[in-house]
Amino acid sequence: MNQELPHPGSHSPSAWLSTLERRAELRRAAGLRRTLVTRDADDQLCDLAGNDYLGLSRHPEVLAAAAAALRDYGLGANGSRLVRGSTAEHAALESELAEALHTPAALVYSSGYLANLAAMAALTSARTLLILDAHAHTSLIDAARLTRAETLLAPHSDPTALAELLEGHPGRRAVVVIESLYSVDGDCAPVAELHSICRRHGALLLVDEAHAVGVLGPGGGGVLAAAGLAGEPDIVVTATLSKALGGAGGVVAGSAQLIAHLVDTSRPFIFDTALAPPVVAGVRAALRLARGSEQLRAEVALRAELAVARLHAGGLGVAAAAGGVLSVLAPSAAAATEWATPCREHGVAVGCFRPPSTPDKQSRLRLTINAGVPREHFVRAIDVVVQTAPDAARQWGKAPA
Ligand SMILES: Cc1ncc(COP(=O)(O)O)c(C=O)c1O
Repeated sequence: MNQELPHPGSHSPSAWLSTLERRAELRRAAGLRRTLVTRDADDQLCDLAGNDYLGLSRHPEVLAAAAAALRDYGLGANGSRLVRGSTAEHAALESELAEALHTPAALVYSSGYLANLAAMAALTSARTLLILDAHAHTSLIDAARLTRAETLLAPHSDPTALAELLEGHPGRRAVVVIESLYSVDGDCAPVAELHSICRRHGALLLVDEAHAVGVLGPGGGGVLAAAGLAGEPDIVVTATLSKALGGAGGVVAGSAQLIAHLVDTSRPFIFDTALAPPVVAGVRAALRLARGSEQLRAEVALRAELAVARLHAGGLGVAAAAGGVLSVLAPSAAAATEWATPCREHGVAVGCFRPPSTPDKQSRLRLTINAGVPREHFVRAIDVVVQTAPDAARQWGKAPA
């Protein structure tokens, strides 16, 4: 699968293309080709695939805020904030995010992916030991690779294993990296236990709250807020603004010293065009709505219970969902793709996750909850997933670990 491309000069120009075609053929044989499916603006599909958990991406207040900023500032930021200037919208969003996440300060990036690269680079040196949860998102894995720090994978959400890894490296400056609500399986990390082990060993805990912000915790402040750990000095938070907040962008939240360090040194901040002002303004409105929406959070929790019960009753392998993500096991990558097709034909968009997007190499349908979709449509869509399941998926019968 990972054949080297031919060395230029030793092959004809067309050799590049034939190598790429051979690789595509291998992916096709393994059921790993990906297809871009057109989405129309008035798409009537029921959304079980996106990450707009609270249905805020089209909320009238969000659209109005974005439209006003579009008029005031234009489409884009036109440069890095250090070069082109930093708008009042960016500064306001940062103080509102810091307040929502209960941290002293926050810095906004143009994506959650970049926020993770930035946080990891800021917290490590070549001598740091990085310990990544085995199910950590690809952006965290890529960030670890860029740091060039020694990196160990810890068994998923296993406090005992984490303690053993830290005990095996006494006196080493360590950073432990987890998600609070895992993006593919939808399970919650045992943050309190992991944090107390980190504290005992003097390790820093980096928590990606991408799928928890807006969905979990008081005021949607995330899993750390729910556990009473928000704002601890040995925890750094990252999150994306593209999921429950319905827009785009990312954030690193932590101490004022960390944020000052990022402004001075962070390459994804300094060498990247800032998040577009209309998006910043729209996300501010979404954050305000999310913070006041306990009812939307309750709706997500209720739908998670409803969906798990129906999927179980259909004989499908699904674990209890801690937030807005449900992970339904598929027998193979090809079966996952074949399952997603009739779902779409019946008007339901589902996420089809296959390696390398799955942490454990097992393919699944990833179903998400969008509280903006009428509840009866959501229930009907879950029933479509059950009815279109291949027999082998019904016999799977085992919840994801
Ligand atoms: C856990 C996690 N972290 C980071 C990201 C990256 O965020 P963004 O899409 O804003 O780059 C994602 C989403 O794709 C994610 O699921």
